[in-house]
Amino acid sequence: MTKRVAILISGGGSNMVALARSMTRDHPARPCLVLANDPTAGGLTKAAEMGIPTAAVDHRPFGKDRAAFEAALTEAITPHAPDMLCLAGFMRVLTEGFVSQWQGRMLNIHPSLLPNYRGLHTHARAIEAGDAEAGCTVHEVTPALDDGPILGQARVPILPGDTPGDLAARVLEQEHLLYPAVLRRFAAGDRRPVFLPEPAG
Ligand code: GRF
Repeated sequence: MTKRVAILISGGGSNMVALARSMTRDHPARPCLVLANDPTAGGLTKAAEMGIPTAAVDHRPFGKDRAAFEAALTEAITPHAPDMLCLAGFMRVLTEGFVSQWQGRMLNIHPSLLPNYRGLHTHARAIEAGDAEAGCTVHEVTPALDDGPILGQARVPILPGDTPGDLAARVLEQEHLLYPAVLRRFAAGDRRPVFLPEPAG
């Protein structure tokens, strides 16, 4: 049975585009919705151009009431009957209540080599620490932020003189390869992690 995937975004949606483009004929999943917490998110336009249903639930009117925001999220998602959720540059922290409804069926991509650098400003922190490499991680979402079982990682070198912007661009290229590779396996029920570059031999 082909899995229905809802993709949650907050911004430009380049990871969403990479995921949607990867879900071709022989893929075990299909995009059924792209939802943003910002009605002006550029990714909504890209999704509509790809013929994917879209929705927006603006988090701002809900202020600090996360439960009310998430109830509105669920109301917008339910009619599209997704089997799983992919967080792709979705910048709202979800409560345990929402996460537990989707436990084992919700993925996220984070721009660091977890467990290093949970949270924000990952590239600046890796450069400041003098690390030799950085990367991105796809993981299952659990109530603890950026903490769930790792399903894939991609590594890139940090080069002399790199700015956080340089590094972010280099990591983003890998995100667009890693997330589709992990989704293809995960949607087929295969939880073996994906590592890029692939280990030799
Ligand atoms: C990506 O770097 C992702 O890892 C992070 O936010 C960025 C979103 O990019 N959480 P996009 O909206 O997918 O282009």
